[in-house]
Amino acid sequence: MADVLKIENLHVHVEGKPILRGVNLKLVRGETHALMGPNGSGKSTLGLAIMGHPKYEVVEGAITLNGEDLLERSPDERARSGVFMAFQRPVAIPGVKMADFLRHAATNVRNPDRKEGAELMPMRDFRRELKARMSELKMDVEFARRYVNDGFSGGEMKRAEILQLAMLQPKFAILDETDSGLDADAVRLASESIAEIGGKEMGLLIITHHDKLLEHNPPEFTHVMLGGRIVETGSRELADELHNLGYDRIRATYPDDEVENRTLLDKEKAGV
Ligand SMILES: Nc1ncnc2c1ncn2[C@@H]1O[C@H](COP(=O)(O)OP(=O)(O)O)[C@@H](O)[C@H]1O
Ligand SMILES: [Mg+2]
Repeated sequence: MADVLKIENLHVHVEGKPILRGVNLKLVRGETHALMGPNGSGKSTLGLAIMGHPKYEVVEGAITLNGEDLLERSPDERARSGVFMAFQRPVAIPGVKMADFLRHAATNVRNPDRKEGAELMPMRDFRRELKARMSELKMDVEFARRYVNDGFSGGEMKRAEILQLAMLQPKFAILDETDSGLDADAVRLASESIAEIGGKEMGLLIITHHDKLLEHNPPEFTHVMLGGRIVETGSRELADELHNLGYDRIRATYPDDEVENRTLLDKEKAGV
């Protein structure tokens, strides 16, 4: 049976502020979902809450993987269970080389019970695999010798995330604006790469404002988030509509959602 990642009635607070207000989403491995919505609607918050970022407090609802509670697992355990997120703003880890980072991460994901300090996957196997993936992605092998995201250009950071995705082969991958800061050619390459490294075998949640990233990964479902809720779910055509026409119709159809969230935020700010 296919793996299922399920989000039910998810409410999330960030620093005490309500951000997500009842999100429902079911991802089946092998499906591609696009997640769209205006800035500040809660898309990144959803991803970070799924990954277990400590700042994103789940106050109500459930996140399960094949029926098992993810919420009680640490971020590390969630990654080992096969859930991956490519961050909108990846962090630099100066002093840690891409290759070492990837060898650790790949070993841990493949042997979820590995104890810290236990043996890593054999260097020769790792090198062979890394070289193959990098050549598929048309990346220079030198790249793996650089420190993780340290001084990377926007484009290089996004490529580094895709290389991680290729090496980890997660069950589910959340790609948070993997197109941001990239020029049109780079987005096309990213879209192709995601498809090539086996995106179709994963459950993909692609957060994007641009249709180019979806070109090689056409979504079966498109979700629109507004004010911390998914207000509409449709097919590929919904993504096309929003790319072409923006969010005016969504805002007009669900006028209360964004406003309600803003009002809550304003009240919080005013200390009411
Ligand atoms: N770490 C954080 N600290 C404070 N506020 C946050 C944090 N992360 C998100 N928020 C707030 O939550 C709301 C949703 O943000 P976000 O999930 O980043 O939206 P999107 O990804 O859709 O643009 C925004 O109002 C944002 O300011
Ligand atoms: Mg975001």
